[in-house]
Amino acid sequence: MTGKQEKPWKGRFTAATDQLVEEYTESVSFDQRLYDVDIQGSKAHARMLARVGVLTASESDAIITGLDQIHDDILRGDFSWSRTLEDVHMNIEARLTESIGDVGKKLHTGRSRNDQVATDIRLYLRQGVDRLSAELKTLILSLLDLAEAEYDTIMPGFTHLQVAQPVTFGHHMMAWVEMLRRDLGRLSDCRGRMNVMPLGAAALAGTTFPVDRHFTATLLGFDGPAENSLDAVSDRDFAMEFLSAAAIIMIHLSRMSEELIIWSSAQFAFIEISDTYCTGSSIMPQKKNPDVAELTRGKSGRVIGNLVTLLMIMKGQPLAYNRDNQEDKEPLFDSLDTATASVRVFAGMIPQLTVKSEVMYQAARQGFSTATDLADYLVRKNIPFRDAHEIVGKAVQAAEQTGHDLSDMSLDELRQFSADIENDVFDVLTLEGSVNARNHIGGTAPEQVLESIGRMRKAIGNQQAE
Ligand code: ARG
Repeated sequence: MTGKQEKPWKGRFTAATDQLVEEYTESVSFDQRLYDVDIQGSKAHARMLARVGVLTASESDAIITGLDQIHDDILRGDFSWSRTLEDVHMNIEARLTESIGDVGKKLHTGRSRNDQVATDIRLYLRQGVDRLSAELKTLILSLLDLAEAEYDTIMPGFTHLQVAQPVTFGHHMMAWVEMLRRDLGRLSDCRGRMNVMPLGAAALAGTTFPVDRHFTATLLGFDGPAENSLDAVSDRDFAMEFLSAAAIIMIHLSRMSEELIIWSSAQFAFIEISDTYCTGSSIMPQKKNPDVAELTRGKSGRVIGNLVTLLMIMKGQPLAYNRDNQEDKEPLFDSLDTATASVRVFAGMIPQLTVKSEVMYQAARQGFSTATDLADYLVRKNIPFRDAHEIVGKAVQAAEQTGHDLSDMSLDELRQFSADIENDVFDVLTLEGSVNARNHIGGTAPEQVLESIGRMRKAIGNQQAE
């Protein structure tokens, strides 16, 4: 980075900025990634200025051609960013004047960096949200495939990480899908509120030029101009919303990670994560570690931290723009990058999981996972649920002493606890009987899993067609 250029705001200053202050206040080292949207915004602004007669058509054309050239230069790596010029906006503007002459100085008419940066971040984040949503959809589709392949695979369901009731693996995968589907919804909600255009708000109060904000908004794909200039330049609630949606996505991925880590341990061995998504140990030759899942769990901490960072940045700020706002970018970019990469790597890992259905089945046979089914059976024989609960508790106690599952007991043994138990009890004590019986919308029965997958495929498909 070079440091020789003159600052566009130098007019009222007599002394040069302290070197340390220059380094402290610059943002170009991290906001240069806004160059593409910054140029889009400037081109739309120039077009609008020509439309309302503030610039001539040829001035606007020269500016647009100059900006396109700068865009190409940056893409080619032929652009030296200057810290003296503070940020991406002043770097590009200075280069514009350098290359097209004084007409370049007219671009900033009726505009401030305050509405410029607020516009840039919205444009950048809008793209990012669209990309992240597309990645999420891919992940959801890979989970739907896995759920469909394993729709009737039986595993133990847990509460308190203790075996609770048998569930189908497909049902478990569909729980993950539901979580991610709501994440998609949150992204789309925050995109809607984000998509209003600050340009025209200028520094804080609006501009004296006859701007056509609807025209600029249409050019930039915004739903319309922001209603209030003070609010438009100063609030970052759209960014807080995004950071919150990203944090929730990461919390979901972190919980999924935790399950993958537990399930892939030797003690569970419910699944195997593909070699391509694991790493080994430099000392223990036998090790195959679920690093992707662990890192995702770890990275969720960063993304949650980024949300808290922006909340804290905003909480004490009076209207309108304050320089504090410059601190919004790093947490925002980091969460966008981290969440996108995490979702992408998950979408790659899921289709390569090996599901060990026999191990899961045997695990579901332990821990008396069908005890509730026996209690429900007794209720159907007209025993009040509380009494049924007590009877089954006694049966479990006895089975535990002999080391058997309830379904291993003979009819005579079971009848010691209730004379109402008959031969049909074995239909409910098996794992298949247990999952099949929960055959209502939202239940774990394989039939319901398939129906739920069908509904989700439709919903996701419709969303893509939108
Ligand atoms: N780099 C600044 C930011 O990110 C741009 C806006 C600067 N505005 C100002 N009045 N100093 O917020």
